[in-house]
Amino acid sequence: MVVVMAPGATDAEIAHVVARVASVGGNASVSKGIERTIIGLVGDIDSFHGLNLRALAGVADVHRISDPYKLVSRQHHAERSTVWVGPASHQVPIGPETFTFIAGPCAVETAEQTIEAARMAQGAGATILRGGAFKPRTSPYAFQGLGVKGLEILADVREATGMPIVTEVVDARDVAVVAEFADMLQIGTRNAANFGLLQKVGEAGKPVLLKRGMTATIEEWLMAAEYIAQSGNLDIVLCERGIRTFEPSTRNTLDISAIPVVQATSHLPIIVDPSHAGGRKDLVVPLSKAAIGVGADGVIVDVHPNPEEALCDGPQALLGNDLRELAQAVRRLPAAVGRVDA
Ligand code: E4P
Ligand code: PEP
Repeated sequence: MVVVMAPGATDAEIAHVVARVASVGGNASVSKGIERTIIGLVGDIDSFHGLNLRALAGVADVHRISDPYKLVSRQHHAERSTVWVGPASHQVPIGPETFTFIAGPCAVETAEQTIEAARMAQGAGATILRGGAFKPRTSPYAFQGLGVKGLEILADVREATGMPIVTEVVDARDVAVVAEFADMLQIGTRNAANFGLLQKVGEAGKPVLLKRGMTATIEEWLMAAEYIAQSGNLDIVLCERGIRTFEPSTRNTLDISAIPVVQATSHLPIIVDPSHAGGRKDLVVPLSKAAIGVGADGVIVDVHPNPEEALCDGPQALLGNDLRELAQAVRRLPAAVGRVDA
């Protein structure tokens, strides 16, 4: 950490900063320039935060040098991690060596629709099934999901297809029941800063898919992951699903640069959700190709046997030719960028 003193800061003000740092066991080395004095701090960063250095007389600015997150950082774990999803008999990896294709219905509506969507997903090469039983909806009048009945349907479909399931948990009170059924717990964009829920899913003992908050910076997103990691669970997969911008032609703006930025600083795997990013089925294939090209560790895509009748997010669901085109891209392109198909 570096403290930049204001031009004209007095010797007494500089000495006060040094004394405050020493009071928590830190070392402060003072470099006096012609106009400004810079003080470099060495010691426990967390104890420096408690000093409120920015508030001291004569201090112009305080800069952090290292990342504020620890457990999810590559400083903590230099190699990029692989997270394994599913029961020991058919675990699916998500990580740097493979490209993982996750697909399924946005919402579990009926047993028939879910098995049909799962067969479509599996036929296209998906190895993990997504499906929402608890749906976070903008409107309280919109379909909220089937709840526990939806989890039961997902478990039956896992039995029938062998695909591990990832499903969202929207309320801390439901973590236990969702963890009982799911192979991976999803935290959606709307709950990405619900710190109590993050801690609870961290304690559930299952891998977590953490979507980026729609207004979260990358640092805020990684701090959200740190909440999960702090609860003792490092099986976290990040998911870039688009952020809110001024651009109205897509539902969100896919921040494609987030993938290499995150990979440079965090060891956690990162996948892309082109369905919720674009909000349009015609964008799913191009955005998936972009995700593969930029080095994402997988994609998670909405499919539906009858999008016109879907109870949630029909306009972004794939079927037919669009799904075939996606299947082809996911089969061929990862190898071209040095990955083996998962
Ligand atoms: C999807 O999976 C979410 O529940 C959905 O995108 C919510 O959006 P809406 O409620 O605004 O339709
Ligand atoms: C979802 O994947 O079902 C979902 C709700 O997505 P997001 O949280 O990204 O909007």
